[in-house]
Amino acid sequence: MSAAEPRVLFVSSEIFPMAKTGGLGDVAASLPVALAHSGVDIRLMMPAYPSTFEHVRGLAVDRHFDDVAGFGDIDLLGGRTPSDLRIWLVVCRRLYDRPGGPYHDEYGNQWPDNLERFALLCQAAGRLAADGGDWSPNVVHANDFHAALIPSLLNGRASDVKTLLTIHNALYQGEATREQLRSFGVPSQRLERFGSGKLSFLSLGVQQAGLLNAVSPTYAKELQTPEYGCGLEDLFAARARDLSGILNGVDYELWDPGHDPHLAHAYSDRNLAGKASCKAALLEEMHLDTSLSAPLIGIVSRLTWQKGLDLVIRSAEHLLTAGARIVVLGVGEKSLAHGFRDLADRHPDRVGARLEHDEALAHRIIAGADIFAMPSRFEPCGLSQLYSLRYGTVPVVSAVGGLADSVVDAGERGIAEGATTGFAFTELTPQAFLAAARKAIGLYPNRALWQALQRNGMRQDFGWDRSAQSYRELYGRLLST
Ligand code: ADP
Ligand code: GLC
Repeated sequence: MSAAEPRVLFVSSEIFPMAKTGGLGDVAASLPVALAHSGVDIRLMMPAYPSTFEHVRGLAVDRHFDDVAGFGDIDLLGGRTPSDLRIWLVVCRRLYDRPGGPYHDEYGNQWPDNLERFALLCQAAGRLAADGGDWSPNVVHANDFHAALIPSLLNGRASDVKTLLTIHNALYQGEATREQLRSFGVPSQRLERFGSGKLSFLSLGVQQAGLLNAVSPTYAKELQTPEYGCGLEDLFAARARDLSGILNGVDYELWDPGHDPHLAHAYSDRNLAGKASCKAALLEEMHLDTSLSAPLIGIVSRLTWQKGLDLVIRSAEHLLTAGARIVVLGVGEKSLAHGFRDLADRHPDRVGARLEHDEALAHRIIAGADIFAMPSRFEPCGLSQLYSLRYGTVPVVSAVGGLADSVVDAGERGIAEGATTGFAFTELTPQAFLAAARKAIGLYPNRALWQALQRNGMRQDFGWDRSAQSYRELYGRLLST
């Protein structure tokens, strides 16, 4: 008997453009589109944050659920995303209708009720899956801890509905007590069976989901080690046969310098002239010294420990002495924001820092910079280095997770062979980062070699086709068991 066709409910705390703080938003927008184009019946679900309403068309109450455990009655609004996918927004004024972001208030403080907020998202998905109605999923694709309670809520209730849990970042787990989890509707027997590990939305999800995947092959392996498993390594290792790694893809409709509406000048691997104009415009926008001959290092990032940006701050004076300029766009931890603000204050003509979220400026930096710095301590996949490759902005990265899977450092000799696409380093120290960045800065004046390196990156194809096919195979595997 052949497996049923998948009907997938894809659940995420952020989906671009309705909400985005990082790469999860991009992936939750572009992977479902790729899957839909390949014929998968897929629908989305996310919380009804205030930012969602302006982007979703045709919103109307589509489902009403009475007495959702701990939350009372809730409505699901149905509508269509800008990519024309069906989406449900989970409405709860008390939990979602407030200014600020999906996880933090306007001042960067975590919402104190985040567990409740994402428990409701999971409950809503569970109720929809069990509801029947005119469409119900046979696979729920849950993303990160925010959706990771779904398998525990479903197993037993709608046992024919299969679950895939995608791990975008195991650092965030949604730690909760037994009492909290019980109040969120997790059946007691699931909690008893859990044993003595650290209880969280994610740890339960890792145990209960039908299949698991990480967002790169290397991260799938790293998760099974104490260094990267964030305390869940034994749980991941116990499920090694059900845990695969699928590298994220890029939506080249949105991220290609040949037709990027955020850029004043288009360019491609065959004609790089527009890139120099993008650089000139960026230097002017950031009020930096406009000499085009100095290599410009770009950073677009959440400012968190994960991203290793303290290595950049600590080596910044040396980078400037070596002739580089630096532009940073990021929001997050105060110490990192202060570090970059301080650098920009001390070197106003050579360092530009914009400490905010700005989608258009992110595109302009990735286009206008020569080098993209991403010295992450861990990086489940990373999208910014994939974007940078397409924009001819040479990545300098730590060789971890998806960075190791996407940036090839085969040295200067590998450039002519078409192999080298960037610079990688292994030891997570300012010295090691600086050494790799200095190689890039040193090569930059050699225009022929530099352009060959840029073109190597620009010709890489990280489109979704292959990865979407891997997700389809996972859905098939779930439905054939
Ligand atoms: P992560 O998901 O860990 O933050 P990724 O590299 O996967 O890292 O994705 C980062 C995404 O977030 C990219 O689309 C990047 O352009 C975007 N981004 C990060 N910080 C900002 C910012 N301050 N303004 C605009 N976009 C940002
Ligand atoms: C997470 C990871 C990042 C990944 C993104 C999308 O935020 O930190 O590496 O690219 O999710 O999967």
